[in-house]
Amino acid sequence: MSDLKIAVILGSTRPGRNGKAVADWVIEQSKERSNATYELVDLIDHPLPHLDEALPPSWGQCSGDHTKKWSATIARYDGFIFVSPEYNHSTSGVLKNAIDYLYAEWNNKAAAFVSYGALGGARAIEHLRAITAELQIAGVRQQLSFSLFSDFENVSVFKPGAQQYEAAQTMFAQVESWSGALQSVREGVAA
Ligand SMILES: Cc1cc2nc3c(=O)[nH]c(=O)nc-3n(C[C@H](O)[C@H](O)[C@H](O)COP(=O)(O)O)c2cc1C
Repeated sequence: MSDLKIAVILGSTRPGRNGKAVADWVIEQSKERSNATYELVDLIDHPLPHLDEALPPSWGQCSGDHTKKWSATIARYDGFIFVSPEYNHSTSGVLKNAIDYLYAEWNNKAAAFVSYGALGGARAIEHLRAITAELQIAGVRQQLSFSLFSDFENVSVFKPGAQQYEAAQTMFAQVESWSGALQSVREGVAA
């Protein structure tokens, strides 16, 4: 067992959210993996006000206890799987806010993207790729896009299509590979 740690970050907090079932399914599929440990980081457990730090996160001088707790959480991981809803052709405000709070904690790590929506959340993922690139997060190619119409029953009961299982394993393999490779980049930065 490697010591790679990957956070599955659930970016919807709405009552009745579909995101919880999607993130739980990602965690369940990850149990087949032997190269990394996957943990759920649910933003509902990390309530953050609208960004309230006086200094830019890239200065590394946060002051709020909520920021310090969030920083310690994200710093623990080598890579991320962002599970995002699509709201108005983008990711959720709560996920964008949580991302904006930090800087170095994200740098030189890998990420994969999972979304769901009328078009599989594709537009949310495209925005997330641009946002996370600014934080020096390397986004892998394989993503999971769940259609509200074919991967959910009645737009609310998660029943992923058969093809999603293999795609999930490809996604895990890619994010593990890049998360492992980027460990040495971080060691070089710290030296
Ligand atoms: C504020 C809001 C905006 C939405 N905008 C879109 C959209 O632009 N495209 C889309 O495919 N679905 C859109 N939807 C539908 C969501 O993708 C769907 O409700 C999904 O279940 C939301 O994730 P959640 O249940 O985890 O909150 C929107 C839903 C909400 C609540």
